[in-house]
Amino acid sequence: MSPFHLTRTLPEGATEAALRQDVLRGLTATPKTLPPKWFYDARGSELFDEITELPEYYPTRAEREILLARSTDVAAATGARTLVELGSGSSEKTRLLIDALTGTGALHTYVPVDVSESALTRAGHALVAERPGLRVHALIADFTAGLELPDSPGPRLLAFLGGTIGNLLPAERAAFLASVRALLAPGDALLLGTDLVKDERVLVRAYDDAAGVTAAFNKNVLTVVDRELGADFDPGAFDHVALWDAEREWIEMRLRSRTAQTVKVPALDLAVDFAAGEELRTEVSAKFRKEGVRAELRAAGLEPVHWWTDSEGRFALSLGVAR
Ligand code: SAH
Ligand code: AVI
Repeated sequence: MSPFHLTRTLPEGATEAALRQDVLRGLTATPKTLPPKWFYDARGSELFDEITELPEYYPTRAEREILLARSTDVAAATGARTLVELGSGSSEKTRLLIDALTGTGALHTYVPVDVSESALTRAGHALVAERPGLRVHALIADFTAGLELPDSPGPRLLAFLGGTIGNLLPAERAAFLASVRALLAPGDALLLGTDLVKDERVLVRAYDDAAGVTAAFNKNVLTVVDRELGADFDPGAFDHVALWDAEREWIEMRLRSRTAQTVKVPALDLAVDFAAGEELRTEVSAKFRKEGVRAELRAAGLEPVHWWTDSEGRFALSLGVAR
């Protein structure tokens, strides 16, 4: 096998069918919603990478700090021969884990999984060029929809970094963690990144940066629906909104219609009315506490064995071992 291999797990047309279903459901619901996975076309993936460099967006730096300090502990604790990463994006921080697992001599294959083909291809080619001997088997797949992994030697370490688990709703999280457990054999492990509850102002700033990159990322979902379904959303007719829901302990991103307007979605034969000021929810980003994370892991059959945070206690990495 060549060191870089890419598999499309979704049949031809499945992505468009899923988008049509999500847009139809979401734009005819009250309140209106769209799932966050549709942010990530090539432009959305680029915008996310820009977000990770913003002064206000601390999670990437905080998680990198933990990985710098703890990757060798993760390697020693897991001895993983296969590293699977869900929502791998640029795989930038993952290099720390890959190097630690290569250092123990154990790593055989890295399996990045993402819906973004552009991110997977870029990251995969760069990795095999930088790290001769590493096999990369990338999967274009939706990690919430019956993921199947390629054959590769155990033990497996499954990494889910960046706090992306917070982009799932609580009920989706429970089903997701159960499906992750089903991919693991006893003794395999999950390394889970979770952003933590903190001062509201710090949180809101991270999702409403001064340069407007997060606003562009948020509006990009409208561009995706325009391009894929022929809709006539005008991104300039919506304002970016980021707010903290103190009860549910999550950030919500929304798009607020500046005026009363009707948006047409020809592929669905749909016309969607927006009142002036009406909001469309595009993302939740849940923030966690230690006991909550441990309870969710345990409920899925994963024993929490490590909890590591950055020096400022902003972000945590948990290691859970499959029972
Ligand atoms: N793990 C990286 C990237 C986080 S951005 C980091 O920590 O910086 C979230 C990533 O998850 C994006 O690359 C996006 O394309 C991917 N993603 C979002 N929803 C997904 C889904 N349902 N299935 C697979 N990948 C998804
Ligand atoms: C990918 N995910 C963890 C990011 C987050 O922080 O929830 C996506 C994001 N949304 C706005 N900024 C970044």
